[in-house]
Amino acid sequence: MHISVIGSGYVGLVTAACFAEFGLQVTCMDQDPRRIAALESGEIPFYEPGLHDLVGKGRQAGRLTFTTNLTQAVEQALVIFIAVGTPPRDDGSVDLSAIEAVATGIGREMTSYKVIVTKSTVPVGTGRQVISWIESSLREPVRFDVVSNPEFLREGSAIEDFIRPNRVVLGAERDESVAILKDLYQPLYLIETPIVVTSLETAELIKYASNTFLATKISFINEMSVLCEQVGADVRLVAKAMGLDGRIGSKFLHAGPGYGGSCFPKDVDALVATGKEHRCEMGIAKAAVDANVRQKTRMVEKIRTALGDLNNKRIGVLGLSFKPNTSDIRESPSIAIIRLLLKEGAHIQAYDPEAMRETAQQLPELKLCSDSYEVSVDADAIVLATEWNQFRNLDLERIKTQLRTPIFIDLRNVYQPARMAKMGFQYWSIGRPSLPPA
Ligand code: UGA
Repeated sequence: MHISVIGSGYVGLVTAACFAEFGLQVTCMDQDPRRIAALESGEIPFYEPGLHDLVGKGRQAGRLTFTTNLTQAVEQALVIFIAVGTPPRDDGSVDLSAIEAVATGIGREMTSYKVIVTKSTVPVGTGRQVISWIESSLREPVRFDVVSNPEFLREGSAIEDFIRPNRVVLGAERDESVAILKDLYQPLYLIETPIVVTSLETAELIKYASNTFLATKISFINEMSVLCEQVGADVRLVAKAMGLDGRIGSKFLHAGPGYGGSCFPKDVDALVATGKEHRCEMGIAKAAVDANVRQKTRMVEKIRTALGDLNNKRIGVLGLSFKPNTSDIRESPSIAIIRLLLKEGAHIQAYDPEAMRETAQQLPELKLCSDSYEVSVDADAIVLATEWNQFRNLDLERIKTQLRTPIFIDLRNVYQPARMAKMGFQYWSIGRPSLPPA
């Protein structure tokens, strides 16, 4: 079967490469000629483990092709995935102009039956709008179906999440389109992946409900971490014991500097905005947002408590991406904290394994270091902001020698307080008692 994916961003490219891996013939279309030219020469515009090889494999097998031509993408495919950006507006609602442009473009080009699938995260009601955008742009009467198939991929493990998902959600109106989509996902039958078939509206809401619930879980444990610090409890053990209750589960209970990325912050805001539109107060989602904003300022307070006045202090920051294994710095807590530190007059020197180029564009005033160790040279403290694996086994003696004062602020609870104190660090972490150096 031939399918097309419109949009070669993070979701689009992973979807296209993985469906090609499933054996389908995939055309990935993007209106940006430079991006398509780069993809055609084997360049991936962002870092995602395994994606470079998977795209290469698909291209070599002739199953994955790139184009800027929408007519071609529509003509060839029975199923067309829309995976374009849905950026936030200032009021938290979602800007659907790219979806509208693609939907009307598809409508104009369609000459035979197609299934149009929204993969992008779109507010409830968008599927119906897509139907009317397509209907109003058709040049001749053509049958089509619209399906909502939200993605649940995590950056950094997107391929694994696509190939071994917990579930596939299909929001559709008619059995014919569901059967076609089930066919696409056939390889997942072997691993007994549950497929949840719902209405368009329910599928759209499942995505927001899932992301908001996970964000709320993180905000909950982050708030608990503050109380832990006040009463001398250990948030890691609180989370561990909570997580052992099967009803709660252990995932997404790691206290840290707050959630970031291109999804949680935007999606929780969008759910609150949708609630407002329908006169339905989303109080819990709002509280999760507020707790997340507070968490970042708390991190700066923590650094201030450890260092005193931040003016002219030199701080080494390890990790810039919003989480490990990605070059993405969108809504990264590390970047938000750095901005606040810079405002207080601190000098920052930072390193990240993959997100240096992105950071240099956004924060040219930052001193970027060539490795994990240069960050500590002559610094008044080290802040571990993103838990890349290579920061888990640092040569701590070397870091201590290079630092002006042995202050280590671990915003991801990577190291053990007792060990750090024994090594002579003033060690600060999240939701755990800080021990004085031994
Ligand atoms: C998230 C969801 O996990 C995916 O299922 C979803 O498909 C995706 O959004 C999306 O809507 O496209 P992602 O943003 O890639 O995926 O990253 P996560 O692994 O969920 O992490 C989000 C943020 O939460 C990161 O800043 C991470 O550091 C933070 N986090 C996560 C914590 O602070 N604690 C945790 O226990 C887990």
